[in-house]
Order: sequence, then structure tokens, then C-alpha cells
Amino acid sequence: MLSFNKQQLPANPLRDPNDKRLPRIAGPSGMVIFGVTGDLARKKLLPAIYDLANRGLLPAGFTLVGYGRRDWSKEDFEKYVHAAVVKSARTDFDENVWARLAEGMQFISGSFADEAAFDKLAALLEETDKTRGTGGNWAYYLSIPPDYFEDVCRQLDRTGMARAPKGSWRRVIIEKPFGHDQESAAELNRVVNAVFPENSVFRIDHYLGKETVQNIMALRFVNQLFEPFWNANYIDHVQITMAEDIGVGGRAGYYDTIGAARDVIQNHLIQLLALVAMEEPLAFDPAQLQTEKVKILSATRAVEPFDLTTARGQYSAGWQGSEFVQGLRDEEGFDPASSTETYAACTLEISSRRWAGVPFYLRTGKRLGRRVTEIALIFKSPPHQPFDLGQTASLGQNAVVIRVQPDEGVLMRFGSKVPGSAMEVRDVNMDFSYAESFTEESPEAYERLILDALLDNSSLFPSNTEVELSWEILDPVLQYWAENGRPEDYPAGTWGPRSADLMLERSGRAWRRP
Ligand code: BG6
Repeated sequence: MLSFNKQQLPANPLRDPNDKRLPRIAGPSGMVIFGVTGDLARKKLLPAIYDLANRGLLPAGFTLVGYGRRDWSKEDFEKYVHAAVVKSARTDFDENVWARLAEGMQFISGSFADEAAFDKLAALLEETDKTRGTGGNWAYYLSIPPDYFEDVCRQLDRTGMARAPKGSWRRVIIEKPFGHDQESAAELNRVVNAVFPENSVFRIDHYLGKETVQNIMALRFVNQLFEPFWNANYIDHVQITMAEDIGVGGRAGYYDTIGAARDVIQNHLIQLLALVAMEEPLAFDPAQLQTEKVKILSATRAVEPFDLTTARGQYSAGWQGSEFVQGLRDEEGFDPASSTETYAACTLEISSRRWAGVPFYLRTGKRLGRRVTEIALIFKSPPHQPFDLGQTASLGQNAVVIRVQPDEGVLMRFGSKVPGSAMEVRDVNMDFSYAESFTEESPEAYERLILDALLDNSSLFPSNTEVELSWEILDPVLQYWAENGRPEDYPAGTWGPRSADLMLERSGRAWRRP
């Protein structure tokens, strides 16, 4: 008879009390995706669901239902999901995992106002609860333009799908854009909250699902090292940059009416600001986190006059590395006279004891020199130092830089003596890199967020108040831009319009060139 030394056996993850996955496995549930044939579902949502299944984080009977206008059978839908998974999943393809997931897939064909199709969906969910043990727990993912939110919410209400039978839950997950200003966001919130109570609404800001963004809280609140200087006594200003090298080709329908500020400053960049600037929450739970974010956003304003404190640009043709690319107005689907900005920068201030007098400069752009997202806290210069000017000529200001992506990590820049007989001082970097420090791979933002929604953890989802406050901060700038001229051209592959540099130069500062 074979005998095993127990220690040689691989641990059974379901029995191992140290397995950190255990509290993170979703209970019985299913998900309906509206807009499942769209780009986001194909590139991000479906691969993320497969990755969760592959990591053992979905329940055995997990059921994915696609809803869309195509006239598809279950098999057509399976083929479509299979292609999306093979192309974009983060983890390796496993036939067994796929077979289990595919078994539960269903597709309902219909428009967002089609009553008969919604009745069919309601019947399907009820049937599935009986056959696959989904327990009446359903998440509805609205990966659709906000114009359709009302139709879908109304249908979910009419058919009873929005109301959870006793002991089960119904949640709705919504994608941005949450309106185009404060007023329209408030209206959207009214529409959604009329059907789903706020604690069952999960608004996706995928930046909050990124590991490095979650690490901002760890960095600030588990360490003693950073807190003493994290304030206006030591910090001169903060730069939050989200630079992309890609253009907006293929997304004209969405982007030409939106522009860079609405597309990412209102959500991703203002959320980053909130995490960097907020006070320590009493606990790492949704209510406490939202309380602190709401407090800091309520104290945040865009600094005027906007002709000096903001900048906007639109990329023209230019060299993106070794490739010559066309300007926005020549891209397919764009109005040749389009005045949509592809670069936006603004100056925000926070009226609080911690941050009074510290400008927060936010910028984002398409077709810039390279892809990088980072938050840089730039220190004040020391009030006195005993070296000659000549000895410190190449010394900059100290900085702490949180690199959100790529090359995820944290960097500290400070001065150091250059080896040699003279006392010459120069900037050096101390660099923490995720890739070097951890062997674990980071999950995709959507894996984390979809799982959190199934687990009813809304810590990483902005509340309705946060969304409206972010618009309140940005609205005056957008209104000023709408009434004053058009964006300045900048050649693709550069770092944006000249007005953005001037914005900082006026106060003797400069953007980092990451
Ligand atoms: C989306 C924007 O929210 O974020 C896009 O709509 C942008 O315009 C994208 O390209 C960037 O996301 P990431 O995760 O690649 O930085």
C-alpha cells in the first residue's frame, strides 16, 4: 500500500485555513451583461469572468447571461465568449474551467425596450435559480450608453427582476460615463436609485481596481514613514499624470462628444486625488472610505482664472515613436472641425489644514510621448542649506512618485553627494518595483471589481455623492472651455500643448517628463 508523508502532499486549497482565497470566493450567483457585444465586454469583462473562474473564485453554478440585439443561439454566444477569452484572458486557458463556465451560459436576444425579451429573461433567471443553484442572486452589468439606463432599469423593475426574493440579492453594476455634468449625473442617479437602492449600485471606476491604486492606501496608512511629510508643511505641489500614447481611433462615436476631461479627469484622476489627499478612514470599509472621500472632494475646487490655470489641446499629425500618425480631425468618424480636447490639464486646490496652498495639477492626454500614469508629490526646497549654488546646480526638489502604470512601483528622489573630491550634489532615485519585490501577478482591475460586486464589497466603488461632487469640481472648467475658443494643437508624440507648460512655468514649476 502506498503511504504518503502528509507534508509531501500538496495542500488542498479548500481545506487550508491559510488560503487567502477562502473568504474571497463568491457565493451562489449569476450575472447578466447588457451590451455584451460591445468592446468593453469583449476585451475586459468576459476575460475577467473567465480569469475569476480559473482562479477558483466563482461558485460552481455561476451563470453568465448575455443580453444583446444579435440573433444568437446559446452556441453562438459561447463561441463569441470563447474567442474573447482566448484572445484577452490573463490566465492560461484551461479546458475544464471553460467547459464548466460555458455550460451555464445563456443568451437573450432583444433591444433595451423589448418587453417580451425582458419577460423571457425574467423566466430564464427563475428557471436558472432552480436548475443551477444561483439562489436568486443576480448582478446586472450595464455596459451600455447611459441613455439606455432608464429603459433597462424600468424593464428590470417591471418584470420584478430588480427586487430580490427574501434571502437573496439583486445588484446593478454601471459603467461610466455617469452623465456629462453635475446635473445630468444627478438625473442618472435618480433614475438608477428609483429602482435600485444605493447599497445595491456598484459604479465602476476601473482605476480603483488597479493594485497600485489600492496600494496608495496601504502606503499611506500602514506606514509611519510617509505621514509626517504628507501635508502642506513639506509638499510644494502634487502632479497627477495619466498619459497615453494611443489615439482615439475607432472610438469616435463615444469620444467626439466627451473629450479628455470628461473621459478621465472627472473619474480616474479625481479619484486618485481623493485617495492621495483624504484623511485616514476609521476603518477600511465602504462607509468609512466614502465618508473620507466625500469630505475631501467637498473641499476641492478648480483654481481660477481658467485661462491661466487650465490647458487643453488636440493632437495633430506627428511622429509617435517610429510611426507617423494622423491628427484627430483626420481620424475616421471625427468631424473635421472637431474641437474635442484630447489633452486636458487643470489646477485644483483643497481647502483643508493639510493641503491649504498646495496646488494639485492634473493632466491627461492621448498621443503623448509615452504611456504612464503616476502621482508625484514634489517637496518644498529646504529653508536653508550650507552648500554653494555651484555645488547644488543639478539638484532638483525631493519627490515621492507613485507609479500606477507601467513599471508599477514607488520611487523616492533625493540629493546625494557625487563620488569624488568635490562636494557636488546630484539627484538619485530609490526605487521599489512590484515586479522585483513580488512573485505574485497582479489581477486585472476588472477581476477585482467584478468579484467585489459579487461579494457585496463596495469599498472600491464611487458613491453617487462622489460622482456628483467630481462633476461639481470640473463643471466650471468645462463651461469656461465651452465659451472660450478651441483647444490648441500639439503634434502627436510630444508632451501636449505649450499652454500646459506655461500653466506651471508661471509659478516657477515644471511638469515631470516621466
Ligand atoms: C478609460 C478611458 O476609462 O480608460 C479611455 O475611457 C482610456 O479613454 C482608458 O484609454 C485607459 O485605461 P488604462 O487602464 O489602460 O489606463
